[in-house]
Amino acid sequence: MAYYHRLGNIPPKRHTQFRQPDGSLYKEELVSSKGFSGIYSNLYHIHNPNNVISIGEPTPYSWEPAKEYGLKQTHLKTSGVGATGKDYLTARKMLMMNNDCMMGICAPEERKMDYYFKNADGDELIYVHDGEGVLYSQFGKLQVRQGDYIVIPRTTIYRFEWKEEGPLRLLVIESHGPIETVKRYRNEVGQLLEHSPYCERDIRPPGELYTESEKGEFLVQIKKGGMLHPYTYGHSPLDIVGWDGYLYPYALSIHDFEPITGRIHQPPPVHQTFQAWGFVICSFVPRLFDYHPLAIPAPYNHSNIDSDEVLYYAEGEFMSRKGIDRGSFTIHMGGLPHGPHPGTVEKSIGAKETHELAVMLDTFRPLFVTTQGLDFVDPAYPMSWRE
Ligand SMILES: [Fe+2]
Repeated sequence: MAYYHRLGNIPPKRHTQFRQPDGSLYKEELVSSKGFSGIYSNLYHIHNPNNVISIGEPTPYSWEPAKEYGLKQTHLKTSGVGATGKDYLTARKMLMMNNDCMMGICAPEERKMDYYFKNADGDELIYVHDGEGVLYSQFGKLQVRQGDYIVIPRTTIYRFEWKEEGPLRLLVIESHGPIETVKRYRNEVGQLLEHSPYCERDIRPPGELYTESEKGEFLVQIKKGGMLHPYTYGHSPLDIVGWDGYLYPYALSIHDFEPITGRIHQPPPVHQTFQAWGFVICSFVPRLFDYHPLAIPAPYNHSNIDSDEVLYYAEGEFMSRKGIDRGSFTIHMGGLPHGPHPGTVEKSIGAKETHELAVMLDTFRPLFVTTQGLDFVDPAYPMSWRE
């Protein structure tokens, strides 16, 4: 949820006659959340959105938790990984999961998709670690670049087109519940408050409509129930001439997140960026360190008794960790205390600022490494605090 937005042509009143140049009606589609009680948008199609030509055999598209992995502080080292697959869907490797969310990486060889994708299982949050491109969806064109969080509500039909030059690497989160801006940052009508680290000006909805009116055969891979269902339609699903509402994909750059700092160490909730069911997303961005004369910039040990904490290291040097690279994940599990590596606390004293950039995902229910995630485990990490 961001704010009301509209693109293209829509009739003055919803659910009324809205005619094409040949006199036929446009086909209205309401896309609504929480039944009819949540946010929604109204889309106007040239063709019938149910114009299915064929349905292919579903194929499994899911991951398995490695339940025997055990209770261990974990480092998944993915920095040396090149392409993770040929195309956008085969390249998505989910490394952690529970019933609320999944998190992984995606570095496809192919920069363009020759099909559309629709995730009917959950909302997606895609962090562009490396890359620049365009998200084409029914809601229009959205330019995206390094450092963007892209929120894609479930059932949005989309494809990405990435620039051929330079590396491409995405952090992918799928959420069972809606991914939203943080409730305590909003006033009673949803506007982001003065103390919010970002505001509506930082949220970028699709900038221009993109209408594909032609007929033909268009494949939409629909993810539902952990399976991919190949649906072929008789027209492009991007046949929208206008839409309005509150439900649409948008981007928010991590570089537009304004950090909150203090005299002494500020806890992770000041970095919160999004909320969802069962987890939160926080952004650690370049900022001034604590300015109390006796401040310790490194975080204190803490035992977060009911959270599993994942940090994805995007840029910069992490003063509280050793052996962590760009593209590393650490998972600090509830039930064990965690904190700075030996020597890093003293070393942090007197430091004035940090250039670190990291994305944090904290879950409130246990998170599991997936069987694919096991390939990236750094076996030395659980004992890396040993003095
Ligand atoms: Fe922590």
